[in-house]
Amino acid sequence: DKVYVLNGPNLNLLGLREPEIYGSTTLDEIAGTLEDKAREHGLSIDMRQTNHEGMLVDWLHEAQAEGARAVLLNAAAYTHTSIALLDAIKAITTPVVEVHLSNPKTREEFRHLSYVGMAAAKTVEGHGAASYTIALDAVVSGEV
Ligand code: DQA
Repeated sequence: DKVYVLNGPNLNLLGLREPEIYGSTTLDEIAGTLEDKAREHGLSIDMRQTNHEGMLVDWLHEAQAEGARAVLLNAAAYTHTSIALLDAIKAITTPVVEVHLSNPKTREEFRHLSYVGMAAAKTVEGHGAASYTIALDAVVSGEV
């Protein structure tokens, strides 16, 4: 079974981008860690990143169409703005786990609202790169 790991805007710069907030681990390094863990459980990872909102919508639909086991979604700033993503998560039956490196609830007020969180099966935030592995744990344990 496949787990889609979908990453939104500016996360291609992870490792370089505001490391005091997001850490120094790159998205490729996170992908490697997730792949190792997934393999132990007979799963595979499809790791993707885009800066385009509609691409995330298309990929959520694809996850459903392809029968993905789950989606880990770090929608980055679109988390706080995108009703289209909220609707896409509601439109599919594939469970979606919301992931954030930082904890948006303890940051600027404009990050406190999460459209993704309104429809996600679970939210993991504030653990740095480990947020992704904790989210995958929730999938492999069957919690999600
Ligand atoms: C983020 C948090 C968002 O508020 C921010 O816009 C990001 C990254 C995180 O992983 O901590 O780009 O999703």
